[in-house]
Amino acid sequence: MQIITTQRALIEQIIKIKSEDKTIGFVPTMGALHEGHISLMKKCVAENDVAVASIFVNPTQFNNTDDLARYPRTLENDCELLEKVGVNIVFAPEGSEIYSKNDLKTPFEFDFRGLDKVMEGIFRPNHFNGVVQIVSKLFALVQPNRAYFGEKDFQQLAIIRLMTKTLNFPVEIVGCPIVREESGLALSSRNALLSETERQIAAHIHAVLAESKTFFNETSVAELKNCAIAAIEKKEPLKVEYFEIIDGNSLQNINDWRSSDYVVGCITVHCGKVRLIDNICYKK
Ligand code: PAJ
Repeated sequence: MQIITTQRALIEQIIKIKSEDKTIGFVPTMGALHEGHISLMKKCVAENDVAVASIFVNPTQFNNTDDLARYPRTLENDCELLEKVGVNIVFAPEGSEIYSKNDLKTPFEFDFRGLDKVMEGIFRPNHFNGVVQIVSKLFALVQPNRAYFGEKDFQQLAIIRLMTKTLNFPVEIVGCPIVREESGLALSSRNALLSETERQIAAHIHAVLAESKTFFNETSVAELKNCAIAAIEKKEPLKVEYFEIIDGNSLQNINDWRSSDYVVGCITVHCGKVRLIDNICYKK
């Protein structure tokens, strides 16, 4: 496995791979890898001649410097995991290799056609501009045939699909299912910031959502939303930031189960200082 830190060295390798007519699969990450990331890597390795992963804690998608500073960084361990799973190239650049001073001075703006006006977009202003900024740069460098993203970040996946279409990247976007702990808690790099007790409590989020799926048809959308929020907040210190029931394509709220055949519940919950996101598909 090659570990590459500069754009120049990466481009050299990509030119070589393309000249051999090999397909490139790509998994962008911010590191602190866990089984969720690894599931994307395995799919990427299985479906492409060459598998490229990136590890870059992207400063432009963080809304608060504290969150950026606290983000776990475990590069050595990450590279060991990637090697084991058969990834061929890891791109792990420094910030200055990716962003010029001008990049950081001028805010990057993308037209999200409203996909950024809901959920994460409301609570994390400019977050998705940062995501599109980095992923578009990485797509231009890696030139993948396929790129793999987790359904855990449901809104991010929808935005990446829109970006790929709008900017005409010839990349197939592959959505991958959420990997969970045995307790049901969705794996996340931020789980490392939870205490053992908080970790057990956080499992309650998925338990409530999974249960709501068993009776969603018998209740109204509004009622289900209120019930689920109340059930989650019964367990301290869980505090729901939002729980939206949306059409899986437009990401717009629905008020009636019959108004869409693709219905997803997206939630963000604070467990102490840690912000956790998850979702559940009611109907597809
Ligand atoms: P990061 O949070 O490191 O996640 C990298 C990829 O792993 C994302 O596509 C995410 O959805 C997926 N992932 C995370 N937890 C998962 C789980 N439990 N099951 C399945 N997939 C999971 O998302 C980002 O990084 C960044 O925004 C990035 C796209 C790299 C741009 O900086």
